[in-house]
Amino acid sequence: MGQQDCGLGTSLNDGDVNTPIFQQDYFVISSLENQTLMSLYNEVFERNKKWVAEKTGMQPDYFENLAKGQDPEFLFIGCSDSRVPANQAMGMQPGDIFVHRNIANVVSATDLNIMSVINYAVVHLDVKHIVVCGHYGCGGVKAAMQQQDLGILNGWLRNVRDVYRLHKAELNAITDAHERYNRLVELNVLEQCINVVKLAEVQKKYLAGGFPIVHGWVYDLKTGLIKDLELDFNHILKEIQEVYNLTEQSLI
Ligand code: CO
Repeated sequence: MGQQDCGLGTSLNDGDVNTPIFQQDYFVISSLENQTLMSLYNEVFERNKKWVAEKTGMQPDYFENLAKGQDPEFLFIGCSDSRVPANQAMGMQPGDIFVHRNIANVVSATDLNIMSVINYAVVHLDVKHIVVCGHYGCGGVKAAMQQQDLGILNGWLRNVRDVYRLHKAELNAITDAHERYNRLVELNVLEQCINVVKLAEVQKKYLAGGFPIVHGWVYDLKTGLIKDLELDFNHILKEIQEVYNLTEQSLI
């Protein structure tokens, strides 16, 4: 199992996963295997109690306060990869970040899920920053670079393949395959940020109050560090204004 790939990339190359279940004669799990299988699962509840005790030990009304409501300044849109810990990497606590994650941190206008998340975050939570955070070693981006039929994933990963097409000249000019892969991770973040800026509620809110500001980040699995791509938000707004302005006034 590759350690550098997203779980997605790993499972795509795993022959066992592709074995249809009906080809197996039967599947029996021994009590010992069952104990092993359930041990981490059961341990979660013990860990949960310990975590609650730690939090309330420092602040007895910690959870009661959290339960009163949320007022996060950040909307974080990241990859589902288990190695990208949004809150921990940002040094944030529960209540600080509204989070949406999917394979390869894609912002698609036809995805009702992410459209609802962004709308709620912008219109009702008044988030000040929207972060699209990709990560080097992204299995979703890697899969999109493969020229093969990936079944139900085709539709989703086409969003990333579209990014490749838009930036084909730059990407094809990079001779080192790993550097090209890293660059696609960055360009995917850029294009997904642009997709956020295309949204009417984002444009209208920004015009009214100067926020939310959209940021593009890449998380480095090997160092744990967040790299700000330092996208020029005003420039992006100006660029998209010609075609995607959904307000009745100038965006900037
Ligand atoms: Co990923």
